[in-house]
Amino acid sequence: MKDRYILAIETSCDETSVAVLKNEEELLSNVIASQVESHKRFGGVVPEVASRHHVEVITDCLQDALAEAGLQASDLTAVAVTYGPGLVGALLVGLAAAKAFAWANKLPLIPVNHMAGHLMAAREQGELTYPLLALLVSGGHTELVYVTEPGEYYIVGETRDDAVGEAYDKVGRVMALSYPAGREIDRLAHQGKDRYEFPRAMINDDSLDFSFSGLKSAFINLCHKAEQKGDSLSKEDLCASFQEAVLDVLLIKTQKALQAYPVKTLVVAGGVAANQGLRERLAAEIKDVDVLIPPLRLCGDNAGMIALAAAAEYEKGHRAGLDLNARPSLSFARLP
Ligand code: KG4
Ligand code: ZN
Repeated sequence: MKDRYILAIETSCDETSVAVLKNEEELLSNVIASQVESHKRFGGVVPEVASRHHVEVITDCLQDALAEAGLQASDLTAVAVTYGPGLVGALLVGLAAAKAFAWANKLPLIPVNHMAGHLMAAREQGELTYPLLALLVSGGHTELVYVTEPGEYYIVGETRDDAVGEAYDKVGRVMALSYPAGREIDRLAHQGKDRYEFPRAMINDDSLDFSFSGLKSAFINLCHKAEQKGDSLSKEDLCASFQEAVLDVLLIKTQKALQAYPVKTLVVAGGVAANQGLRERLAAEIKDVDVLIPPLRLCGDNAGMIALAAAAEYEKGHRAGLDLNARPSLSFARLP
């Protein structure tokens, strides 16, 4: 069979990325231009700044990804692009680039859901067997997804307010850590003790949904009260206590989901899947299923994961026209 090459573009948030995938599994290149330094001083992503950066570097990223793969546009089979969820202005830059490139080179266009990308990055870690369950934890999303077959994703549980990564970044801000704070909180947590009491919301109900806004508020209140009284709190212990509360909830809900949907494979993916504490708890507590977590380089936003998800979409014959639009709130359907 002829080799198949998919070029993928990802610009949904603050990383401009272009990748080339050969035959479903071999990433020949995965160029990532991060803008995180530009957003740090604002303590979060500024949408206008993000769009402008994407425009500045997208062409170079495209050329670099092709050059690194040792290919020319004429060698490609298809172009894939993230069309949601994400920041509308940021998504539009990737979409415009993908459409122009596909049109100029007479290539089919494959629309990819960013969260499907996070999930399918686990393919780099091993063969996926279906049906499978996935815990997706990122800066904008926290959801349990049931995947019946490649390309068929259904939500069985999701956060009703903040995403896990968002909670990490917000409490990080209160502790004056730089954005994004997840990694630093994870590091500090390993040096501290779980001695401040934080709530674990919704762990005793039947739903597979999450809520993290109460935990975030409890954390902020504790810090403000201590500040008013002139007490000092241990940053390490705060991080350890916060992280234990988050991980307890994630583990309990994941175990519940595994009971409700018996599967052989659990995927844990998204930016927060880089968390060492989460990886340790999964290894210690999830015994009866294979746990696949993407390698660290594919946990954060990147186009490699979009190409991996696009391979499944390509097989299913999913194609988009040049009228493909950005879908900032794109989401998987709830399982009927
Ligand atoms: O998936 P991602 O790169 O972007 C989105 O699609 O949102 O996730 C970014 C999020 C940020 O909130 C960041 O703080 C968090 O992932 N993160 C972590 C860790 N590394 C990144 N959270 C906890 N522990 C980590 N080690
Ligand atoms: Zn992401």
